[in-house]
Amino acid sequence: MAVGSIMVTGGAGYIGSHTVLQLLLDGYQVAVIDNLDNSSATAIQRVRELAAHHGPSVTFHQMDLRDKPALDKLFASTKFDAVIHFAGLKAVGESVEKPLMYYDNNVVGTITLLEVMATHGCKKLVFSSSAAVYGWPKVVPCTEEYPLSAANPYGRTKLFIEEICRDIHRIDSEWKIIMLRYFNPVGAHPSGYIGEDPRGIPNNLMPFMQQVAVGRRPALTVFGSDYSTRDGTGVRDYIHVVDLADGHIAALNKLSDPSIGCEVYNLGTGKGTSVLEMVAAFEKASGKEIPVVFSGRRPGDAEILYASTKKAELELNWKAKYDINEMCSHQWNWASKNPYGYKPSESKS
Ligand code: NAD
Ligand code: UFG
Repeated sequence: MAVGSIMVTGGAGYIGSHTVLQLLLDGYQVAVIDNLDNSSATAIQRVRELAAHHGPSVTFHQMDLRDKPALDKLFASTKFDAVIHFAGLKAVGESVEKPLMYYDNNVVGTITLLEVMATHGCKKLVFSSSAAVYGWPKVVPCTEEYPLSAANPYGRTKLFIEEICRDIHRIDSEWKIIMLRYFNPVGAHPSGYIGEDPRGIPNNLMPFMQQVAVGRRPALTVFGSDYSTRDGTGVRDYIHVVDLADGHIAALNKLSDPSIGCEVYNLGTGKGTSVLEMVAAFEKASGKEIPVVFSGRRPGDAEILYASTKKAELELNWKAKYDINEMCSHQWNWASKNPYGYKPSESKS
C-alpha cells in the first residue's frame, strides 16, 4: 500500500505497540484506539519517542471497540486507508471461565468495527488471528489449509471472526481482508523501551520466565514432561514480535494487490522449540538461572505446534529474521530495564 493513514485497534498492547512503531518508521500516519484494558498509554508515549525523528505521528483515542458512536465519530473525522485490528481479550483460561465476556468483547467488538468501516467505505482490514484455530494438529508444520477447530472460547472467537470476514467478502468483493495466524510472539523491540507487560500472573511462557529472572516469581512451572518430543516438553513456534510487526506491513502492502480477496497467512518461523530449550536460551541470554518445577500437562495444550511459512514467504514476500537467541536477548533487555513493565514498581500496579 502507498503510505497512508492506518487505524490500529489495540495499538497500546504488546503486538500493537511494536506494529505502530514499524508503521511510523515506514512513514504511515497512525490512529490508535484502545480501552487500555490490558495495556498502558505509556507504551504509546514510548513509541512516539522511538519514532520522534521520522515525521509521521500517532494519535491515541482511549475508547472501547464496542462504543459505536465514538468509533463512528472517529471514522467521520479521519479518512483511513486500512485498519489493523488487534483489540481483543486473549487469556485462554479466562475465556473458559467467562465465555460471554470473550464473545462480547472479541466478536461483538469486531462486528461493530466492520459495520462502522463499511458505513465509511473503509474496506481494507488486517486481522489478528491465531494458531489457536488449528486446535491440536495431528501433522506439523501446519499449513493454512489445515482443518480448523478451536479447543476453547478464545480460539472460537478467532475462528468465528475469520468466518465472518469470509462471509462479508463473499457478498461484497470490495472488502480486502488479510487474516494473520500468529504462532507464539515473544521478545521485545531491541531498544528495550517497549515490550510485553501483562496484567496479573502471566499465562504465557516468556513473560512468566521473565518475571522469574527479575525475581518477581520463585520458579517456572513446566506443564508436562511426558510429551512425545525431544525432551518431553511442549514444542512451539516462537516468533520475534518485531518480525511479526513487519509481517503486518507486508500484509498492508498485499492489500493493494488487485487479486487479493479474503486471505489467511501463518506468521511463524517454521521452527519448533521445546519449553526446556527456551529456558536454556533465556538462561544464556540473561545470565540468570531459571529454577524449574515440573507439573502435569496444562489442559487443552497441544503437544507440537509450528507453522508452515511458505505461503507468507511466497505471497507476502516476508520471512522472520530473528532466531531464538535474539528473541531471548531482546526479551531480557526489556525485562532488565523494566522489571515491572511500564509501571515504576510492583506497589504501583
Ligand atoms: P494485548 O492484550 O497486549 O493487546 C490487545 C489490546 O487490545 C490491549 O491493549 C487491550 O487493552 C485492547 N483491547 C481489548 N479489548 C478491547 C476493546 N473492546 N476495545 C478497545 N481495546 C481493547 O495482546 P497482544 O498479545 O498484543 O495481542 C494482540 C492480538 O493478537 C489479540 O487479538 C490476540 O488475540 C492476538 N494474538 C496474540 C497472541 C499472543 O500470544 N500474544 C497469539 C495469537 C494471537
Ligand atoms: N508453558 C509452561 N509453563 C508456563 C507457561 C507455558 O510450561 O508457565 C508451556 C506450555 O505448556 C506450552 C509452551 O510453554 O508448551 C507455550 O505456552 P504459552 O502459554 O506461552 O503459549 P501457547 O502456545 O499455549 O498459546 C499461545 C497464546 C495463544 C495462541 C497460541 C497460538 O497464548 O493465545 O499461542 O499458538 F492462541
